[in-house]
Amino acid sequence: MKYFLDSAKIEEIKLAYDTFKIDGITTNPKHIEASGKPFLVVIQEIAGWAKEKGFKNWEDFPVSVEINPHLDHADDMIEEALKIAKIAPYFVIKIPCNLQGLTAARKLEDMGIRTNVTLVFSPSQALPVAKNGSLFVSPFVGWKENSGDSCEQYIKDIVDIYRNYDYKTQIIVAALRNGNQIVQAAKAGADIVTCGLQVYLDSFEHPFTNHGLGIFTQAWDRTSK
Ligand code: E4P
Repeated sequence: MKYFLDSAKIEEIKLAYDTFKIDGITTNPKHIEASGKPFLVVIQEIAGWAKEKGFKNWEDFPVSVEINPHLDHADDMIEEALKIAKIAPYFVIKIPCNLQGLTAARKLEDMGIRTNVTLVFSPSQALPVAKNGSLFVSPFVGWKENSGDSCEQYIKDIVDIYRNYDYKTQIIVAALRNGNQIVQAAKAGADIVTCGLQVYLDSFEHPFTNHGLGIFTQAWDRTSK
């Protein structure tokens, strides 16, 4: 299963790459805002880093960039997507999961621009996204679980449906909040997870590891006296 980092902060991207060797990046307008820099500056900065690392294009290292959320017509979404895609070969265009977005995603895929359909909250939304041939689908977990839903079955259902029909769209289980949700995505057979750096760091931390290290350090010191 691949790990994507959900962030637009270059320092987080560098750290996540050096530690977890992340396989890609997802951004959204909130992450761009949190970076404290203008949209174009941030996405160019990320593209510059990907180039420095030797990645050639989205196949090597996909960076999902979301279109302006004000756009509510497929033609306008396509126009904006084409502008973003031209900036660097890493960009996969994030499009909202509504009817205009679905239309835009389909047309962009036909033009060779890869898409990530985002804000997906049900298997019945995820199905047409795959049928239309998007590269990625992003079902959100954290938001649903915050409002009381359990997401284990939701992820499994999307994975099963895609397998039933051999759909090629890759599932990015998104908005994860803890290690348990990462493991649920892996057990279900999702292709990718995406979350913030702190979630990856916390999910890799176990108090017994530090406790055990303390025990072994003391033993080491006793024998080397
Ligand atoms: C996914 O691609 C989204 O960018 C992301 O997971 C949004 O949710 P969050 O910011 O609440 O985690």
